[in-house]
Amino acid sequence: MRRIITRGIAAVGAVALLALGTACSNEREGATGAGSTDAKGFAAGSLVGVALPSKTSENWVLAGDLFTDGLKAAGFRADVQYAGASTTVADQQSQISAMVTKGAKVIVVGATDASQLATQVAQAKQAGATVIAYDRLLTNTPDVDYYIAFDNFKVGRLQGQALLDGMKARKPKGPWTIELFSGSPDDNNSKVFFDGAMSVLKPFIDKGDIVVGSGQKDIKQTAVQGWKAENAQQRMDSLLTSTYSGTKQLDGVLSPNDTLARAILTSVKGAGKQVPVVTGQDSEAESVKSIMAGEQYSTIDKDTRKLVAETIRMVTSLQKGDKPRINDTTSYDNGSRVVPAYLLPPVIVTRQNAAAAYANDPKLSALTK
Ligand code: BGC
Repeated sequence: MRRIITRGIAAVGAVALLALGTACSNEREGATGAGSTDAKGFAAGSLVGVALPSKTSENWVLAGDLFTDGLKAAGFRADVQYAGASTTVADQQSQISAMVTKGAKVIVVGATDASQLATQVAQAKQAGATVIAYDRLLTNTPDVDYYIAFDNFKVGRLQGQALLDGMKARKPKGPWTIELFSGSPDDNNSKVFFDGAMSVLKPFIDKGDIVVGSGQKDIKQTAVQGWKAENAQQRMDSLLTSTYSGTKQLDGVLSPNDTLARAILTSVKGAGKQVPVVTGQDSEAESVKSIMAGEQYSTIDKDTRKLVAETIRMVTSLQKGDKPRINDTTSYDNGSRVVPAYLLPPVIVTRQNAAAAYANDPKLSALTK
């Protein structure tokens, strides 16, 4: 049962995994990893590199700040870099190489393009550093030691279920007409989110209870390059023109994250259409406001504070020469090896549970009052 990047066969296995609740069940210290440094540790105060993608959503902005402060507080020197807005791949490649040259003992990578960093992480491993994939998996390279993320397949399942629940609440009986959007094709998460959502929606599509109005169901058709709001808005604009002229109703839109959800809502409102059920992810402030105002239907809470804290905890274990804690050794085959992972549980948020879901987040909690 592996959550494979080319995961045509993985859906069934992943569903079984979820049923077993493996996200947190086989948690243990000391499972196998390929880290060359974790047997002996390294000097306190060493350099830790953090290479993040461009700031395509608020979680990345927050992660950078939290890494800078948190690594320092844990006694490390931190080098936190973002890929630029346009030459993202080349930026990230040279940032990682520079971290290696500066002697970083651990390099944490939120990949801008999952498959384009093999040379750089190979250099890192050769220099004796440990490589941790953060939030997004690095693909087709043996040179990634650990993966830390929210359970991406579960994120997708929660999105699919929320779409269904939201449409049922508004119109108890189908058929419901929807459109599907997915994230950037260079981000390994995009397909995992989409597959998770489709594992819930496809049975309804197959029965005819859900109809994809445009017929565009293939991830190649639904993808939003670069996770860019303008690309999602443009696609929604053209779907509205091609498929929803006149009074034809659109009941729901599967959106993989909040930035794209708001772009889709802008498009629909601009066309004077009734607002459909639109999903999201990330708990961005503007989307939480939109949910409370009854526009966007749902988001996902993936608390960046927890993800960064878990990563820093892993770095600290490596520094001490301990094996880091992982809780998943089967789900993430990156095409080259199954990467030992620590997966955190995502939480679905709608207007109904927002106050409770954000109770321990003062910024978001204030938006629910
Ligand atoms: C992250 C999402 C985010 C998206 C765009 C994904 O890899 O998991 O949380 O919305 O990138 O930045």
